[in-house]
Amino acid sequence: MLSEQERKKQLKEIKKENQRRYREYNKNKRKKVERSIYETKLKDENNLLEIDNLHTYFYTDLGTVRAVDGVSFNIPKGKTIGVVGESGCGKSVTSLSVMRLLQEPQGQIASGELRFALRDGRTINLAKAPINEMEHVRGNEISMIFQEPMTTLNPVFTIGKQISEVLALHTKLTKQELINKTYELIDMVGIPNPERIYRMYPHELSGGMRQRIVIAMALACDPQLIIADEPTTALDVTIQAQILDLMRNLKDKIAASIMLITHDLGVVAEMADEVVVMYAGRIIEQGTTMDIFKNPLHPYTIGLMKSRPNMIGPDEKLYSIPGNVPSPVNLPDHCYFKNRCESCIAKCSSKYPELISVSPTHKVACYRYVKEA
Ligand SMILES: Nc1ncnc2c1ncn2[C@@H]1O[C@H](COP(=O)(O)OP(=O)(O)O)[C@@H](O)[C@H]1O
Ligand SMILES: [Mg+2]
Repeated sequence: MLSEQERKKQLKEIKKENQRRYREYNKNKRKKVERSIYETKLKDENNLLEIDNLHTYFYTDLGTVRAVDGVSFNIPKGKTIGVVGESGCGKSVTSLSVMRLLQEPQGQIASGELRFALRDGRTINLAKAPINEMEHVRGNEISMIFQEPMTTLNPVFTIGKQISEVLALHTKLTKQELINKTYELIDMVGIPNPERIYRMYPHELSGGMRQRIVIAMALACDPQLIIADEPTTALDVTIQAQILDLMRNLKDKIAASIMLITHDLGVVAEMADEVVVMYAGRIIEQGTTMDIFKNPLHPYTIGLMKSRPNMIGPDEKLYSIPGNVPSPVNLPDHCYFKNRCESCIAKCSSKYPELISVSPTHKVACYRYVKEA
């Protein structure tokens, strides 16, 4: 334990450091961003988005929160990538970094590149792109579906007005075309009688219907990437299954890539092509959906797998991984999962394990899979 005096000194240092970060942020914000700073090239032309060593930190009164700390993965064109992990692992912060919707200046992308292939043929680093580029990207190129539909829908406007407004913003359709296209979108997300729904207000719809409308809005401008952050978490179990069905159907109809964020491995099993497992701001395992489900390696992934409700028999108790995700302030030097892990070996007390390849598609960060030289 720190003495009162030491604690005060520490808080003072944190405050000083934060102020330095905020000053730097404000200074950079005023500068014009030259194209050469943010225009870049993809490492692989098959990708739509390349997240490369992303570090996103929050500079808080308690110290620096390393919410995302060195995350790298690609979203190939037309593919669905599942991002899984318990609450607090940095999934949402990863997606908010891509959209540049972090609470700035407390939250900042400290380092890393987010290379995104725009429709016009250019590739830009979203981490460095100026506001006007980001305003074009949001909605036109990337759209988001959040957990709670009421946070996206405006309670005072009709459903029709809200969808057609998105369309009007991104297309040059006439008034009648806007209405027709809105009907088409409502129909596409599986809601019957679009003419009636068009005139309704969000509160007149059920939670499942509202989430369908949010999905319609996300599709409205035909984005290249859809980020769905826990799209079914706020819904009843039966409705969850319907929304997942809808998303699976849409996935085959539209050309967009999907980044599907969830704490529920079951959700990604049927939709994702590849899976990224996050733990305390880092990737601890990644691979094809087959790799992760048929051959989970990291004790954390195995734990997540065991804690799925449909994995148990009638008399068994639901498994839950003991302990909690560690606080992202002052993380230890060893593996972050060590204190919760049931299969530790001596090496687990040494430095944080690197992500190693166990097959061309499958990677894991765990000492149990490091072969002795
Ligand atoms: N605005 C914020 N200020 C400080 N810490 C934050 C903020 N937003 C998120 N965090 C922290 O970042 C970590 C990752 O959060 P998040 O990405 O929301 O997790 P999840 O995987 O549940 O989506 C958490 O420890 C959270 O407390
Ligand atoms: Mg989240």
